[in-house]
Amino acid sequence: MRIFILGLHSPIGRHLANTLIRRGHQVSGTSRAPEPAAELTGRLGSYHNMQLGDPADPDWFQDIDAVVYLLHDHSHDAASRNVDGIKALFQAAFSAGVPNHMFFTSYSAKPDSRSTYGAVKFELESFFRKHNQWVVRPGLVAGASGLFGTLLRLVQEFPVLPLPDGGRAPVPLVAPESVSEAVVHILERALPPGCWNLHQPDPVSMREVLLCMKRLTKSRCHFIPIPAILPLCFLRFTESVGLRLPLAADSIAAMRENRNLRRPSHLTDLGIAGPPLEEMILRLVRTKECGAGP
Ligand SMILES: NC(=O)c1ccc[n+]([C@@H]2O[C@H](COP(=O)([O-])OP(=O)(O)OC[C@H]3O[C@@H](n4cnc5c(N)ncnc54)[C@H](OP(=O)(O)O)[C@@H]3O)[C@@H](O)[C@H]2O)c1
Repeated sequence: MRIFILGLHSPIGRHLANTLIRRGHQVSGTSRAPEPAAELTGRLGSYHNMQLGDPADPDWFQDIDAVVYLLHDHSHDAASRNVDGIKALFQAAFSAGVPNHMFFTSYSAKPDSRSTYGAVKFELESFFRKHNQWVVRPGLVAGASGLFGTLLRLVQEFPVLPLPDGGRAPVPLVAPESVSEAVVHILERALPPGCWNLHQPDPVSMREVLLCMKRLTKSRCHFIPIPAILPLCFLRFTESVGLRLPLAADSIAAMRENRNLRRPSHLTDLGIAGPPLEEMILRLVRTKECGAGP
């Protein structure tokens, strides 16, 4: 198949591109970088450097079987840039004759979401569902970049960390390889359009995740339970004055909103077991120790 990935250099994009190429598919795509990443150089059908809001060239999509929409601008003022930019990309690819489209949404996507991220993802997933396309909804991806990797680094580096609302919120986790494997299944078997939830069927709490990170890294970090509203207000303030900290206010807001949310997992339906929490953490620790990770 010929697959076009928008946001090729995102952590999920790199993993997915490598998996698809290994399985004999032709991968093309875009990112903001002038050149493709070293590991993808010479292995892509085509590569284009693009920012959200730039017009797409219809020639990019000639003979493409499916477009995967991974790009998301996390800047706090980028809501309409994401919504308008991604809808325009869909229109360009659809008009160029691409039959299949796969949008990456989030567990936090909800109509009444108070996090900008959740609201933007909900608007876009509704758009792709209305057009009868695939919507893929990963849980928190246990990769070196993103929230999971940040938490692991914080646990290793800080002696004390606040634990918003005692860490009771359940975390829908998924390993990066499970996400790539699921996408390959959906594309290769041309599974029905609609929403595919990708997270381990048994949820774990944030407290369990952090305690497991602490144990496996032999960290001495202490967790102090605090009301989540405190870090939320603090991070909203720092972001409003343009200060970027390792944790985004939206991550805390989404965790609070998702406290009582349970979505069914489709990983088992796709025949994917996925590694247990300990294994997800140990892989990242080992990758970091041998310097192979991003
Ligand atoms: N990681 C997770 O836990 C998780 C969970 C659920 C859903 N998702 C969704 O899955 C997708 C990929 O996630 P990820 O964690 O691998 O990557 P990510 O950190 O969310 O980054 C998204 C990518 O979007 C592109 N991008 C950002 N701003 C842009 C702009 N202004 N113009 C053009 N491109 C822009 C960049 O791609 P380039 O670097 O290629 O330019 C960036 O790497 C995202 O849509 C994310 O919301 C992720």
